[in-house]
Amino acid sequence: MGELVLAAKITHVPSIWLSLQPGKHFGIRRPAELALSEVGRRARERGADTFLIADTHWMNSIGFHLNGKERHSGSYASHELPHFIHDLEYDYPGNPELAELARQEIVAGGQKGLVHTYRDLGLEYATLVPMYFMNPDSNIRVLPIGCNVYSSIEENRRIGEALMRAIRHSDNKVAFLASGSLSHAFPDNEVAESLLNDVSSEINRKVDMAVLDMWTTGRAAEFIDMLPDYNRRCSGEGAMADTAMLFGMLGWRDYKGSGEQLCPYFGSTGTGQVVVDFAVPGHDTMASR
Ligand SMILES: [Fe+2]
Repeated sequence: MGELVLAAKITHVPSIWLSLQPGKHFGIRRPAELALSEVGRRARERGADTFLIADTHWMNSIGFHLNGKERHSGSYASHELPHFIHDLEYDYPGNPELAELARQEIVAGGQKGLVHTYRDLGLEYATLVPMYFMNPDSNIRVLPIGCNVYSSIEENRRIGEALMRAIRHSDNKVAFLASGSLSHAFPDNEVAESLLNDVSSEINRKVDMAVLDMWTTGRAAEFIDMLPDYNRRCSGEGAMADTAMLFGMLGWRDYKGSGEQLCPYFGSTGTGQVVVDFAVPGHDTMASR
């Protein structure tokens, strides 16, 4: 029987990639780099064989999609920000079997689930940037699920539950990554570059801080009750589908665990970013918190 061994909300902002490059931005996201590496270390320590990643940059408009390729390899340039991320070569094993199990459970739950293996369906940077730090030797399999930008929080709760059933029916030890922002109010173009290290509004920053407090003190029900409004008012990235899937997997309002914040909250071109490792129910780390 398969097992969820890690569940984390993670950042993937391109400025983390910039932070690795020589020049004026070198090192600006060092705490986030270290936090992503730490999530990878914990995944390996807990025996994870697969990263299942809710990728908010694989934006779907109809249905729920999994990239079930046997092998993900290629070279990536961001269409959104080509000057930030380009020539990123990657090569990771995939997990077609878990993709198919996830599809079956999504369909069994009454939703539209599809698995694809198209040659030209590559990975997006909400997968690639974290994988660079977490999976440097490409030993852990990679399975992205897209985020439907027109889906509701409730739909994504059910997707999270379906993913959890699929993991239990598999032979895999899975680390789930919700790869997306907290608040995500992208600034106007004319001021965007001046907000490289800032959040767009003080209101968004304060709401993000309140959310982090709920996560780290085990107040899941309080957070879940405000999640649809949080998504709407704070311009959720990818409809906050990644976060709803994460909590759907963990038990939704009944989740009694808490998150461990692995880097300071930071603003990045107007958006709120963080890395938080959530205790997984029934797993050893839950008891050690
Ligand atoms: Fe993003």
